[in-house]
Amino acid sequence: MARLLIKKGADTEVAMTANATRFITPLTFQALTGRPVSCRSFDSSDEDVMAHISLAARTEALVIVPATANIIAKMAMGIADDFLTTLCLAVTSPKIVCPAMNVRMFQNPVVQENLRRLQGFGAIVVMPGCGDLACGETGPGRLAELPEIIEAIKSALTVKSLAGKKVLVSAGPTREMIDPVRFISNRSTGKMGFAMAAEAHRRGARVFLVSGPVTTPRPMGVTVVEVTTAVEMRQAVLDLAQDADVVVKAAAVSDYAPAEQYAQKVKKGLDEETLRLIKNPDILAELGRHKGRRLLVGFAAETEDLLAHAREKMINKNLDLIVANDVSRPGAGFAVDTNIVKLLYPSGRIDDIPLKSKEEVARDIWDRIVELPAPRGPIQ
Ligand code: PMT
Repeated sequence: MARLLIKKGADTEVAMTANATRFITPLTFQALTGRPVSCRSFDSSDEDVMAHISLAARTEALVIVPATANIIAKMAMGIADDFLTTLCLAVTSPKIVCPAMNVRMFQNPVVQENLRRLQGFGAIVVMPGCGDLACGETGPGRLAELPEIIEAIKSALTVKSLAGKKVLVSAGPTREMIDPVRFISNRSTGKMGFAMAAEAHRRGARVFLVSGPVTTPRPMGVTVVEVTTAVEMRQAVLDLAQDADVVVKAAAVSDYAPAEQYAQKVKKGLDEETLRLIKNPDILAELGRHKGRRLLVGFAAETEDLLAHAREKMINKNLDLIVANDVSRPGAGFAVDTNIVKLLYPSGRIDDIPLKSKEEVARDIWDRIVELPAPRGPIQ
């Protein structure tokens, strides 16, 4: 956990209970974090007897990982009999508690009551998973997966600028079948759209994600609807958009589908074959025609004349914002973890977002979306 936090750029300090130091030495954490480890009880020989107060003041998130039944009970009751429990009382920033213990201990009503009590005081509890436990038994009690804990920390540190809002995001490619084994599609992995959905969830929105076929891990806490074709995506998006406050269309929808779909695999025949295509519905344009009070945000994947093409799409599709994505640039567009985009507004304003991770780009885009004036059209 400490290693992962450092890798993610978090300034990480470790505080340990005396019992924890019997499992792993403070020196290990000191070497890992490059910071002194706080684990003493109060001692008049300490150089800084107020260390728990100064550490509490600079703590932006306190993560108890793993949280034993003992520390949970002490935190729930406000007991402060060592450095860590005293720190817990002095910290006013978010506390993320990650229980890990034997299944019967975890299911004990006292532990459950203490966890509820902690939640009542505003702590975030990352529930343990099910599986083989250190004690040899099986069941709930296993420390949550680290990415889940990281996500809880990110969420706790994010201002809930979308609280009470419903957000719909579309992501990934569509697949237009030619026959049972062949299809027309594109290289979209869904990463950009998934990052948009994850960030909206962190900001407190109820998030629905309509995704084409991808293998990218689903964002946590988001309702995912899987689709294959543009026609399926249209149906899912139109259904979910009804009462959405914001619709973000990051999906790379196939503009055309084969006119005919063969029931059996097409056999090799002539030297030349022609595939007839018909236009797919333009989902975003349809939403733009019946916009109501939804904010509509589109993406434009371009390889030339980025601004002109993106602006045209923004106007034709009646959008509040378009994310212009020059997918020919290294580090941008399809199937990479980073992106470079320009945000175009109907007013003519253009914001540049330089090369960043898709997660950071998503944060920057949402920072702009939450500032947009609400459309004043009739409710649809
Ligand atoms: O998924 P990744 O691998 O992370 O890649 C990210 C991305 C490159 C797919 C993403 O950043 C992006 O640019 N998405 C838009 C891709 C696209 O198809 O753009 P477009 O210019 O063809 O479409 C313009 C807008 O209309 C898009 O919001 C699109 O979702 C929408 N559209 C397009 C066609 C159609 N039939 N219906 C639509 O709703």
